[in-house]
Amino acid sequence: MRVDGVVTVPGDKSVTHRALMLAGLARGASELDRPLAAADTRSTARVLRQLGARVGPIGRGARLRVLGASWHAPSGALHCGNSGTTARLMLGLLAGSGIGARLTGDLSLRRRPMARVIEPLEAMGAVFSTRGGRLPVTVRGGVKRGVTWNSPVASAQVKTSLLFAALTSGQPVTLSEPWRSRDHTERLFAALGLSLQVDDRTVRYVPDGLVRLEAFALEVPGDASSAAFPVGAALLASAGELVVAGTGVNPTRTGFLDVLARMGARIERTNLRTAGAEPVADLVVRPAELRGVEVEAGDVPRLVDEVPLLAVLASRARGDSVFREVGELRVKESNRLELIALNLRAVGADAEVQGDDLHVRGRDYRPAGHVETAGDHRLAMAFAVLGTAPEAAIELSERRSPGISYPGFFDMLRELEA
Ligand code: S3P
Repeated sequence: MRVDGVVTVPGDKSVTHRALMLAGLARGASELDRPLAAADTRSTARVLRQLGARVGPIGRGARLRVLGASWHAPSGALHCGNSGTTARLMLGLLAGSGIGARLTGDLSLRRRPMARVIEPLEAMGAVFSTRGGRLPVTVRGGVKRGVTWNSPVASAQVKTSLLFAALTSGQPVTLSEPWRSRDHTERLFAALGLSLQVDDRTVRYVPDGLVRLEAFALEVPGDASSAAFPVGAALLASAGELVVAGTGVNPTRTGFLDVLARMGARIERTNLRTAGAEPVADLVVRPAELRGVEVEAGDVPRLVDEVPLLAVLASRARGDSVFREVGELRVKESNRLELIALNLRAVGADAEVQGDDLHVRGRDYRPAGHVETAGDHRLAMAFAVLGTAPEAAIELSERRSPGISYPGFFDMLRELEA
C-alpha cells in the first residue's frame, strides 16, 4: 500500500471528558472547540445532563456549548456506558459535591476496578456502597476531609478523581504515583487559574475555599492515541508520506512516538503550536523497516493505550520485542494483555504473555485470520491497521467498537488505502 495525504484525528478523549465536566460545574456558558464526538464522551455529556448541566448535542468537528449548573441529585442511575474515565472521574466529583447517585455501566465497565478511586475517596470521608469494588456503585455520603495518598497504580484517572474531589469539596489532596501519568488535568487547572503544585510524581492541590469556576473557552487538541493508528498504517505502507495533522504531543502521551523512534521510525513534528493548554503538532510519517524494542515499566504510563498498536507493529519488526510490566492492560476495556497475544497468534504471529510482560517475536509473515476484539475499540483498530499490511487478510469479530473513541476510523483507513 502507498500512503499519501493528510489525516486529521478526532479530539482528545481525555481532554474532552475533563473539559466537559469542568464546564458542567462552571458558572455560565463554556465553549469547547473540536471536542471528541464519540460514544465515550457522549456518556459523560449524558451524565452531566442528568445532574443539571446543559450540554449541547456533540457533533463531529462542531463547537460545543456547555451551560454549567449547581448539580442536583439525579432521578435515575448515571449510566457511564463503556467509559472508565466517566465513571472514575464522576465518582470524585459526586463525592466531592456530596451528591448521592448510583453509577453503572456496560458489561465491560462493570468488570473494571473502581476500588482504586473509592479507597482514597473513603479516606476523605466519602461513603459508597458497592459489591467487590465494581460498578454499580452508589455514592451515599460526601468528602469531609483532605487526604495524602500513595496510589499503587500510575493512573491519571485516580489522580483526576482526587483532584476533582478536592475542587468540589474544598479539601486538600496530595497524591503520589509510581510513575507520572498523563497531566491534562494539571494543565487544565492551571489554565483555569487553580494553583496546584507538581513535583515529579506528586501533585498537591489546596483549594482556596469552595471554588466557583467561571465559564471558559477551550480548543481540544487531536488525540495522540487515535493518531497512533494512522501513524501505524503509514509505517506499514510500502511508499508515500502521511501527515497526521493537529495531533496532541503532550510528552505524557507521546511515549509511543519515542518507542517508534527506537524501533527505527523517523516521524517528524512540524507546525508546533498550542491548543488550549496542550502542545499540538502535525506528524509526518513515512514507511519504515522497524526493529524489535524493549519497553520498560517506566515507559508504560506514557503509552498505556498504544500497546495494542505497538504490539502489532512489533510482530512485523526485525527481532524480538518485550513490553515489561503491562499487567494494567488486563483491566482495560477488555483483558487487553491476553487478547493481544491471543489475537496475534490467531493471525500467525508469535507472541506470549509471561507474568506481566508481553513478548512479541518479530518476523516477516502474512497476517491472516479471525480477531476477537471483545468489543474493545483499541484492539479492533490495532488489528485493522495490521490488516493493511501487504497480502493481509484479517477479519474482525465486530467493527462497531472504534466508535467508542474514533468515529470514522474505518473511513479514514479506507481513504488511506485508496
Ligand atoms: C485516561 C487514563 C488512562 C487511559 C484511559 C484514559 C484518562 O487510564 O488508559 O484511556 O483520561 O485519564 P488510567 O488512568 O487508568 O491508566
